[in-house]
Amino acid sequence: MKLTTTEKDISAIAKKYCRLEVTDKPSSHHRLVEAADGTLTYQLGAGKWNEMTPRKFRTFVRSIVQAAKSHHIEYLAMQLSNSPFPQLDEYGEEWVLRTIAENLILADYEFTKYKSKATSKDKTELKEICLCGGMSPAAKAGFAAGQIVANATNATRDIANTSGGDMGPRQLAAAAKAALKGTSVTTQALGETELKKLKANLLLAVGQGTKEPSQLIVMKYQGATKKAAQPLVLVGKGITYDTGGLNVKPSGAMHDMHLDMSGGAAVIGAMQAIAKLKLKLNVVGIVAAAENSVSAEAMRAGDIFTAMNGKTVEVLHTDAEGRLALADALTYSERFKPKTIVDVATLTGAALVALGQQASAIMTTNDELQRLLVDLGEESGNYVWPLPLWEEYQKPLKSTRADLANIATNFSRFGGTIEGGAFLQNFAPKDVPWVHLDMAPRMESIGSDKLAKGATGEPVRLLVTLAEAMV
Ligand code: BES
Ligand code: MN
Ligand code: ZN
Repeated sequence: MKLTTTEKDISAIAKKYCRLEVTDKPSSHHRLVEAADGTLTYQLGAGKWNEMTPRKFRTFVRSIVQAAKSHHIEYLAMQLSNSPFPQLDEYGEEWVLRTIAENLILADYEFTKYKSKATSKDKTELKEICLCGGMSPAAKAGFAAGQIVANATNATRDIANTSGGDMGPRQLAAAAKAALKGTSVTTQALGETELKKLKANLLLAVGQGTKEPSQLIVMKYQGATKKAAQPLVLVGKGITYDTGGLNVKPSGAMHDMHLDMSGGAAVIGAMQAIAKLKLKLNVVGIVAAAENSVSAEAMRAGDIFTAMNGKTVEVLHTDAEGRLALADALTYSERFKPKTIVDVATLTGAALVALGQQASAIMTTNDELQRLLVDLGEESGNYVWPLPLWEEYQKPLKSTRADLANIATNFSRFGGTIEGGAFLQNFAPKDVPWVHLDMAPRMESIGSDKLAKGATGEPVRLLVTLAEAMV
């Protein structure tokens, strides 16, 4: 789908366009009307105009694309001027146009890589959405930024939706390089020889059960006017397939685990968007990539490894692998003298128990960062909600034989998401604002998202708005 704009009024554009008419009827109210001269109008209810909120607006914009597709509309036009939604005014035109562009493109996305036959999309393709009536400079800027962010998010979804057999650690590194081609970001992949030198023994332990060598993917973006400005560091979990290891996952809980690199894919997408937006700050992206496999060489429950930061870790559960891989990546991040660190991971099923599938969990001891991220979640549409990281959560992680265990030594099923955050806290560089984002709840879309099934591409939009807030 092409997104275009014209200065013309909707009444003056070519007949080939179907015109969108937003009404204040309920959203269930939509119909296609043909005029005597053959022009088509699609009437779509947005509900009471004064009840439109930013949250509802996003899904409303997405429903335009869904409707156009289900009615086999190829060319759609909509009028921009005179937004009928008073509650959106305070967000400004730039936000409104960015949100429109983002959500039209996100809703248009389909993952067709493995479809042999032409899909519905190919048959009656939605070819173009044209926004009519001129735009202010602010609106234009929002519209351009929205396209960059949404395309980066869709690139993230393509990477995440790819099967584990086609997207191992080295292929993930190649995908990062491909996604960042043409930008000023430099991408480097550290292989097993380098990882051994770095003593990244936890990351290596996760990947020791497979022939696929683990990788630490490092992406650097220099956008600050002062070259040495401290960077925002984004760390992503890149488990390209999570079988659970020797503590193998039950059937029904494994088949979606090609998506266990969603955090890493989001870091790659965020780097792309940040570079294309030419944001004036320095950003480093780090993806800890490994496959958690089952074999005679796999790490055993009870094995003890020394982390990059020198702490010894007993692997009590081989399915708690993400925190192992991330631990070394967090230690590695220290060398960049980060201003702020955000790690993003599909870390625990318990996060879905806590929050359902509506929001990702965040954990930090920095109140300011916590508030900022909750606010930016609302602004961007990648909703997050905090859980505590109190001292008290450390004690159950003390191992009998090593410094730390990767799960609570009493095998408690309670508070699993915080347990993951509390473990990572032992590896986050001291005195650097750090937030752990458990995106397991948002790994896959749900019906109310009005997005294609599979990867959501979250939290690319949140990471980009965070970078913007730090400029
Ligand atoms: N990748 C999973 C978490 C996950 C599960 C993400 C379902 C999305 C959907 C992670 O590596 C894992 O297996 N976590 C375990 C931790 C447990 C062993 C302490 C879990 O959640 O069961
Ligand atoms: Mn696991
Ligand atoms: Zn995992």
